[in-house]
Amino acid sequence: MRRKLAAGNWKMNGLTASLSEIGTLAGDLPETPCEVLICPPATLIAAMAGAVHGTGIAVGGQDCHAAESGAHTGDISAAMLADAGASHVILGHSERRADHGETDADVAAKTEAAWKAGLTAVVCVGETEAQYRAGETLAVIRSQLAGSLPGGTTAANTVIAYEPVWAIGTGLVPQMDEIASVHGAIRAALSDRFGADMADGTRILYGGSVKPGNAAEIFAVANVDGALVGGASLKAADFGPIVAAASAA
Ligand code: 13P
Repeated sequence: MRRKLAAGNWKMNGLTASLSEIGTLAGDLPETPCEVLICPPATLIAAMAGAVHGTGIAVGGQDCHAAESGAHTGDISAAMLADAGASHVILGHSERRADHGETDADVAAKTEAAWKAGLTAVVCVGETEAQYRAGETLAVIRSQLAGSLPGGTTAANTVIAYEPVWAIGTGLVPQMDEIASVHGAIRAALSDRFGADMADGTRILYGGSVKPGNAAEIFAVANVDGALVGGASLKAADFGPIVAAASAA
């Protein structure tokens, strides 16, 4: 059985004062919670790792460099994230692909770097609105998966996040049967390349305008193993009910 994962991506939001949300979230966790991961900005990782100590909540980064160290001003290595207390790192988010021109090959190189540092990679894929309208969603997702996942991908070292770009921060969400179709295609693609056991064990998250009001419906969709949540992960009052929905699903 794949344990559900509720992951929060704080993006470029959060100052030290925001850490109080973690205490509230931890205090409200259900008795048998799903796996919970928060990916704050890098400046907060070490402090958050301290704040979640003993709660079972994991902390992750939002990006890492593909190199282990060196002359890369402003960048952060996977080992630095691990050293600060992170166990996961989001890679290939559409905002990184769009804002920083990250390619599938870049994402694959970063994924290998993450594993080397002992981090679990949360590899993101998703089609743009134009690709969605053109009916290219499945082709785009298959191509991104093929290019972004290194040959050594396992159910233990990687989580996949399907995030339609047009659903991020817009309040728009695909139809549930559309989510089911993409998640099914992702699992089939994993099975074709890595085998049925790997595909069966790998978590596939949905991301894009997940809110307390739609989380339960999304978690009930076949092959949805959790969510990658942006805006609604910033406040425990919103993320708590999403965690509860994932824990009950
Ligand atoms: P929203 O939940 O704000 O739409 O963001 C989704 C996302 O990009 C998470 O990585």
